[in-house]
Amino acid sequence: MVRLAAFASGRGSNFSGILKFLAERDLPARYVLLVSDRSHPPVADLALEASIAFLHLNSKGFPSPEAYSVRLLRELENYQVDWITLAGYLKIIPPAIVEQFHGRILNIHPALLPSFGGPGMYGERVHQAVIASGVKVSGATVHIVDEQYDHGPIVMQETVPVFYEDTPETLAHRVLEVEHRIYPQAVELAVTGRLKILGRRVEVLP
Ligand code: GRF
Repeated sequence: MVRLAAFASGRGSNFSGILKFLAERDLPARYVLLVSDRSHPPVADLALEASIAFLHLNSKGFPSPEAYSVRLLRELENYQVDWITLAGYLKIIPPAIVEQFHGRILNIHPALLPSFGGPGMYGERVHQAVIASGVKVSGATVHIVDEQYDHGPIVMQETVPVFYEDTPETLAHRVLEVEHRIYPQAVELAVTGRLKILGRRVEVLP
C-alpha cells in the first residue's frame, strides 16, 4: 500500500477528487496525512470526514527554516509517507524534503508550464496573466516538484481554449475541470510505479 500525504492551503477540490478516484478504482494507495500551513483551511474538513490525520505546520512557528524542515521530515517519516501530492499549497517545499522525497512529490499548476508559473503565480493571477498575454490556449500541468516553484519535470498536461470573452473566473473554471481529470490520473501513474524520470523528461511506462 502506497502511503500518501497531501499538502494544501485552501479549498481542496483536487484533494477531494483524488480521494474519490482512489476509492472508486480500489488503487493500492491511501492518504495518511494532510499538511497545511493554515490552521483551519476548508480542505481540513475533507480530511476529517475521511479520517485522515491533519497537521498544521507553518515555518513561522519555528526558530529557523532548518528547525521547520526537521520537524516536517520527522512527521513524514512517522507517517511512513511514500509520495506527497501538493494541491493549492502556497509555500515552497523545503530543500531537505525535496531531497528526501526526490521524484516523489507531485504538484498541479493551473496553466501550461513552463509558461505562467513561478513565484507569485497562483490563483487568479495565473489566469489574469494568461488572458492579458493573448494566448489562445491554457490548461493544467502536473509536474514533479524540485527546488524551484513550478519547475520540475512535467508528468501530464491538457489544454483548454482561451476565449476573448473569458474572465479569470470563467477560465479558472474551465481549467479546474481539466485539473480534476488529470491529477488523479497522474497520481495513479505515480503510485503504480509507472513514472520514470529522465532529467527534465518523464516517461510513462505501460
Ligand atoms: C488549483 O487551481 C491548483 O492548480 C492550484 O491551486 C488550486 C487549488 O485548488 N495549485 P483546490 O484547493 O484543489 O480546489
